[in-house]
Amino acid sequence: MQDIYEIMKSRRSTRKFLPDPVSDDEIRALISAAVTAPSGCNSQCWYFAAVRTPEKIAELAEAAEKGVRRFYSDVTDEKFLSSRVKQTTFFKNAPLVICVFLTDMKYHDPRVEEYYGSKGFGHKQVLDMLGNPDVLSLGAAVENLLLKAEEMGLGACWMNDPVVSSPEICKALNVPEEYRLMSVIPVGKSAYTPREKAMKPMAEIMEIL
Ligand SMILES: Cc1cc2nc3c(=O)[nH]c(=O)nc-3n(C[C@H](O)[C@H](O)[C@H](O)COP(=O)(O)O)c2cc1C
Repeated sequence: MQDIYEIMKSRRSTRKFLPDPVSDDEIRALISAAVTAPSGCNSQCWYFAAVRTPEKIAELAEAAEKGVRRFYSDVTDEKFLSSRVKQTTFFKNAPLVICVFLTDMKYHDPRVEEYYGSKGFGHKQVLDMLGNPDVLSLGAAVENLLLKAEEMGLGACWMNDPVVSSPEICKALNVPEEYRLMSVIPVGKSAYTPREKAMKPMAEIMEIL
């Protein structure tokens, strides 16, 4: 069994993949690892769409490109636009693409919402004031998935650029409109060894009091 710290240290973002397919059992193992994550009020406010057919991945990339072109519709610099499209759609070279959606998070105790409601705040504002526990929960799930991939010898990349294309991607995957696309994760065997990563010194990012 691999040491968890070793897995954390060796995990790196992979942006180029070998064509070897990822099996359905491996997909289930990745998502089973993701959902062991803690979530605010144990709401498990996530939904995963694992896309592994080349046709559907191509459709996903088309949807992502469409969203980028909509988002940057007043940009005339085609070079900039095509670089945004490239950055947003490189997931298409992976044999598996996992889209992670945020579903609605509810508090255990409805009095929390009631209290904030009485102060004039809506559900989204309540979550915002409480540090976005819904979004944090998804982050925990994604990191679990990435670590499991590393343990299984698979590379992956946590991508948020495609989130601008959330409406187009929801439509292409036929997921409910109210789900919010939060991350897209291409997965597969890595085609290269990444360069060393510069790390901030510990003294800059922590203190022990
Ligand atoms: C929330 C989040 C969003 C990210 N979005 C993107 C992205 O859209 N495209 C991309 O190429 N990498 C993306 N990354 C990967 C980071 O660039 C990468 O994690 C960082 O450079 C550190 O490198 P490492 O993952 O190899 O340790 C994202 C990472 C995180 C945590």
